[in-house]
Amino acid sequence: MVKMTGFIDVADILKGDNEDGAEVKVRGWIYTSRSSGGIQFLELRDGSGVIQCTLNKRNIDAETFSRVEKLPLETALEMKGKVKEDNRAPGGWEIRVNEIGNVYESKLDYPIVKKEQGIEFLMDNRHLYIREPKLQNIFQIRAKFLQAARDWFKENGYTEVQTPMFMTASVEGGSTLFSVEYFERKGVYLSQSWQLYAEALISSLGKIYTIAPSFRAEPSRTRRHLSEFLHMELEEPWSTLSDIQNSGDRLVCHMANTLAEVMPEKVKAVGRDPDYLASLKAPFPKITYDEAVEIVQSKNIEMFWGDDFGWQQEGPLTEEFETPFWVVGYPSGIKPFYHMPDPKRAEVTLSSDLLAPEGYGEIIGGGQRVHNYEQLYQRTLDDGLDPANYAWYMDLRKWGTVPHSGFGLGVERVLMWMLKLDHIRDTVPFPRDMRRVYP
Ligand code: 4AD
Ligand code: MG
Repeated sequence: MVKMTGFIDVADILKGDNEDGAEVKVRGWIYTSRSSGGIQFLELRDGSGVIQCTLNKRNIDAETFSRVEKLPLETALEMKGKVKEDNRAPGGWEIRVNEIGNVYESKLDYPIVKKEQGIEFLMDNRHLYIREPKLQNIFQIRAKFLQAARDWFKENGYTEVQTPMFMTASVEGGSTLFSVEYFERKGVYLSQSWQLYAEALISSLGKIYTIAPSFRAEPSRTRRHLSEFLHMELEEPWSTLSDIQNSGDRLVCHMANTLAEVMPEKVKAVGRDPDYLASLKAPFPKITYDEAVEIVQSKNIEMFWGDDFGWQQEGPLTEEFETPFWVVGYPSGIKPFYHMPDPKRAEVTLSSDLLAPEGYGEIIGGGQRVHNYEQLYQRTLDDGLDPANYAWYMDLRKWGTVPHSGFGLGVERVLMWMLKLDHIRDTVPFPRDMRRVYP
């Protein structure tokens, strides 16, 4: 065994960075292995990609050959060999191995096998299952998605801010609050949204955004709810409802177009046609809440004016569209106290959700905020809240209060739709829901 240095990433080989016949060193984990007629085929996974490596009895000493043949799956090892373009190999390239370096041998019987395994088993073994190439692709896309968002925010003059996760008041209603033990103090919760703090920070920093976890004690098990999700939120002073819809259109299109441009193969491998993401253009269509209710009712699905959309309503509604679309003007009764009532029609608010097509449903929720002190005071009472719990938030309305708006985008919801996934869980390495906080 020789000490090897100068390893390269599998991704660089697959990109064609090395000439046919060049000598390379790689290291990674054995993802699959089989042997036939004096040749061993290993698929090696190094975090950047997966490549086929072959060992031929004629090119490598007998001892190394038989040692490698006995290595269990997920053994990690270093190898040296020559790259060969070969269209029979997955990815189009293989490495013809002539030397082995360090070997970190696995135990026998790696629990994740190729044959169908039940979802509960795979979730119990999530710490291992995250090695699967499909998940690896999704997580790489997720990282690029966040990078594209940060680029867009920077380009458009927003400042990134973080706000506390421990809070003393609800933002999105008491029913989904997680209480925490906070030393001796009662009435401390995990954040559902940065919004209250964001409304304070716009008077310090102007246009701002955050990318941070939010927590919801969602009592239902659905394919699109997590109890911990990544929340991308923006807040803008001097901004109306239509201004933030415009920001949402451009942000979502920028992220979709970027994924299609920089990682089309990964997007395709996961299950979405990259041309679809490339084709999305601002602005997205808008319909009113009233029109949305009529569409749902026309499909003989039960819904009354004033009801919120559940998945039974949102699914069929969103099947009418091919791109995301805004539903505008939700009734006050189904939106939290901070939403500005429409001056022309008091029973609805200047609020809007962006719904993704194909049954995916809500991906953004936001709107214009109440900026008048008396009106906000009244709205807290109407919502059955104790204004004392919102004292500092209402104080903001006394000191240079201006029209302002913002929204929250669910990162996992958007990825689920953009990648055409059946379930939200695979957009996160270790998903948290009602039944799962392990591993
Ligand atoms: O519609 P929501 O509740 O709005 C707010 O929290 C506002 N305060 C945001 C703001 O204006 N700054 O949540 C915003 C988005 C939803 O549209 C959805 O995409 C996502 O957050 N979301 C969830 N994603 C996964 N699992 C859950 N349980 C989610 N709850 C909300
Ligand atoms: Mg919402």
